[in-house]
Amino acid sequence: MTHSEVGSTHREIPFSDADFRAIADLALAEFGLNLAESKKPLVYSRLSKRLKARHVPSFPLYLELLERKEENEERLELISALTTNVTSFFREKHHFDMLRDERVPAILEKIKAGQRIRIWSAGCSSGQEPYSIAMTILDKIPDAARQNVKILATDIDPKIVERARTGQYPETEGTGIPPAFLQKWTKKVPPNEIRVSDEIRSLITFAELNLMSEWPFQGPFDAIFCRNVAIYFNQETQQRLWSRFAEKLAPDALFFIGHSERVTGPATQQLAATGITSYRKTGSAGRHAQ
Ligand SMILES: C[S@@+](CC[C@H](N)C(=O)[O-])C[C@H]1O[C@@H](n2cnc3c(N)ncnc32)[C@H](O)[C@@H]1O
Repeated sequence: MTHSEVGSTHREIPFSDADFRAIADLALAEFGLNLAESKKPLVYSRLSKRLKARHVPSFPLYLELLERKEENEERLELISALTTNVTSFFREKHHFDMLRDERVPAILEKIKAGQRIRIWSAGCSSGQEPYSIAMTILDKIPDAARQNVKILATDIDPKIVERARTGQYPETEGTGIPPAFLQKWTKKVPPNEIRVSDEIRSLITFAELNLMSEWPFQGPFDAIFCRNVAIYFNQETQQRLWSRFAEKLAPDALFFIGHSERVTGPATQQLAATGITSYRKTGSAGRHAQ
């Protein structure tokens, strides 16, 4: 949220408390987003741009428009406007170190035993997170692409998933990538971009997925990254989500969340904290429904 987004109370388009509540109710029901009253100026600032873009004169009319079946695209614009896609390569590097040091040995054993390996980046934004996972894995398992090793990368926002698929970024973003990885797995795209190599890209399957909906895959996963996503959800939604993730993890698999998030509720019986924002799936405790 920028200062200019919240600094002004002048509103070109009327935005009543009832309008805010209606938007907040919709965001909660459809996307699990938790918009506290304090977010009202931010919501106005971001959504008034959508109203102008669509030439809609009032919030009640915008809400009506969102209800129309053919307005799926606008509902996605809404979620883009209400969330942030901020991400970076090797964000919270200690998570990737832990994946390498604490899970890769077990992954190598599983590969030897002919088992499949699955890692999930849930809420992958523009792809830097799954590409960082792929580099971490390929560095230690050079033949990963020929083994049954796959990284699933999902996000609710189709536009951001499309951008992630391209694997192309401003050169300045490459500073977050360890120099040896940068040299090995990216190439320059003149004048000032870099592109992630096909070998890295081949490990990842990108897909659109709203975490609030059914998950059309089985798992189990050797690691799940769901970082800086649940921060938008209310506590009840978060706790349901933690339990669903716990259910999808293999025994001893790792679970990573964002720096300001914590696992609470029933999932704590299945996820043992191994750091402030990292957890290990414990044995085969009670099952939780999706
Ligand atoms: C701040 S980014 C986090 C990116 C990455 N995980 C990281 O930590 O760098 C949050 C992402 O969560 C996605 N998101 C928000 N609500 C979601 C939902 N209900 N289902 C799936 N993805 C969601 C947003 O589209 C956005 O790309």
